[in-house]
Amino acid sequence: MNTEALKKTAEIMMNKPKGLLAMDESSPTCAKRFAALKIPETEENRVRYRELIVTTPNLSNYISGAILFDETFHQKMSTGILFRDHLNSIGILPGIKVDTGAKDFSCHPNEKITEGLDGLRDRLVNYEKLGAKFCKWRAVITIGDNIPSQACISSNCNALARYASLCQENNLVPIVEPEVLINGKHSIDKCNTITRETLKCLFDQLALLNIYLPGTILKPSMVISGDSNDSRADFKMVADMTIKCLKDICPDDLGGIAFLSGGQTNEEATTHLNLMNKDYDSLPWRVTFSYARAIQQSALNAWCGKDENSQKSQEILSERANLCSKASIGEL
Ligand code: G3H
Repeated sequence: MNTEALKKTAEIMMNKPKGLLAMDESSPTCAKRFAALKIPETEENRVRYRELIVTTPNLSNYISGAILFDETFHQKMSTGILFRDHLNSIGILPGIKVDTGAKDFSCHPNEKITEGLDGLRDRLVNYEKLGAKFCKWRAVITIGDNIPSQACISSNCNALARYASLCQENNLVPIVEPEVLINGKHSIDKCNTITRETLKCLFDQLALLNIYLPGTILKPSMVISGDSNDSRADFKMVADMTIKCLKDICPDDLGGIAFLSGGQTNEEATTHLNLMNKDYDSLPWRVTFSYARAIQQSALNAWCGKDENSQKSQEILSERANLCSKASIGEL
């Protein structure tokens, strides 16, 4: 493990005023998003859409790294250039999602466990050789009647730590993503309790496995009311409770924090991030974005699979990335 290299990569990923672009939807997830817009679910269309994203003018002014799905990492654009080479050429670090998905957790109804550790070392050796600089692993924690269980939180956090250790062995910065899902009627207080439990468990597991924190990025969900709660907390409360939770739990030497958007609207995702950066100027780590839907969705809606919409779609994508970038320095 080269700690200097890991730290340097994490610093580049956290460069101001940039954040990360998550464009690592698995083929089934991408198919769902395409189907909703009646875009045929073909490999050719996935290439067309992702090429539109990475050729958006000025993207690298706002984005320091892009998380790719395995298919995209190995694919060529219509120009014959590999996606990962194109990203490098415009100053965006290529990263790769390496978990193989959140699967039903045995004997734990309605809970998920993320898989993908089998054979991971060999895959990481190959990704690193091909130029990946960082990786992502997403764990899913569901709030509901009598869940999450301690078993679900501990098992997922242990897997995140084992993944992080394998990444660092191969000089790849691990993004550790414990997503507490927004779905449900729960209050912001309930989300706060569960997010704290999850993050405490995660940092205990990372410490147990001696994970090098300056070369690690946390990708958390925000502390937020459930999406079908009747009296959802306002922007300010989400920003304040999220920052308090992170300050109480995340060690100061963590490489950085980049939120997922998790089903928030575009406005929510940027306003929350902006308030966190505007109202708190002496945090020990950078707080930025690693959004998928809150950057991409409106551009995908505008594109709808049609070439004649590509320019408009890129303008929308660029505007979303710009707003997220401004929010990441509290200047929205
Ligand atoms: O793993 C989830 C993605 O990287 C973030 O997606 O911003 O749409 O929640 P999202």
